[in-house]
Amino acid sequence: MKIHVLLSVLLSFVAAAICGNFNQDFDITWGEGRAKILDNGKLLTLSLDKASGSGFRSKNQYLFGKIDMQIKLVPGNSAGTVTTYYLSSLGQNHDEIDFEFLGNLSGDPYILHTNVFALGKGNREQQFYLWFDPTKDFHTYSILWNPQSIIFSVDGTPIRQFKNQESKGVSYPKSQPMWIFSSLWNADDWATRGGLVKTDWTKAPFTASYANFNALACTAGSCSKKSSVNSWFSQSLDITGQERIKWVQKNYMIYNYCTDSKRFPQGFPTECSTA
Ligand SMILES: *[C@@H]1O[C@H](CO)[C@@H](O)[C@H](O)[C@H]1NC(C)=O
Repeated sequence: MKIHVLLSVLLSFVAAAICGNFNQDFDITWGEGRAKILDNGKLLTLSLDKASGSGFRSKNQYLFGKIDMQIKLVPGNSAGTVTTYYLSSLGQNHDEIDFEFLGNLSGDPYILHTNVFALGKGNREQQFYLWFDPTKDFHTYSILWNPQSIIFSVDGTPIRQFKNQESKGVSYPKSQPMWIFSSLWNADDWATRGGLVKTDWTKAPFTASYANFNALACTAGSCSKKSSVNSWFSQSLDITGQERIKWVQKNYMIYNYCTDSKRFPQGFPTECSTA
């Protein structure tokens, strides 16, 4: 009995680790033909024009995982466009782990915006420039989410860590399974230079591409204790990772809620003291 359970968990884990086919793992949820799965499930594209954006969602819900996606962002003049890629449990008191890419004029830098919600509470924005042009090639955006911490990485370089600080009374996402979502939409009222630069619709349709999805993850209900056999489940930042995160934060971070004293005149949120 026990062996049987362990085997089936291992098998579902292996399956989750190797498939990475958009037809198998995702549903297109909106955009009336603007989202496309191509190349036998190896490639997915989202597009945006004046009438609508588009989006997709994972078939599975995940409770912890190491989730990688390669994304090539809207090239050229992408001002006013926003490409989102995030995990969310939806609903009131939801948990959420966000990547959002805010477009820009040709040659001007995208902003990578991140946030973490636990039990409905977010307000934990950190923003970065990237050290490469994210529209030229695919780059890997990863979320490692385990009971100890959430680590955001870009091409294997950690850029942000949100530690479990429940012992200090800070809520942490750990019991609500999350779907993976992505969308491409228009937000030219705020996205580029705070809304100053509007979308040039003569350049539409705008397109972002996705490839090589890979999830070492637990799907809802099928992987709690057993995942302790997987190293990602207990992985934390090693010394190199800590040095990389410092490098990114020193050179590429452009906003950190934990240092925004105008916003928090009464003192910073609890997690900021060690985040
Ligand atoms: C766009 O470029 C401007 C000018 O370099 C910069 O201030 C801004 O942060 C960039 N990104 C966005 C999304 O506005």
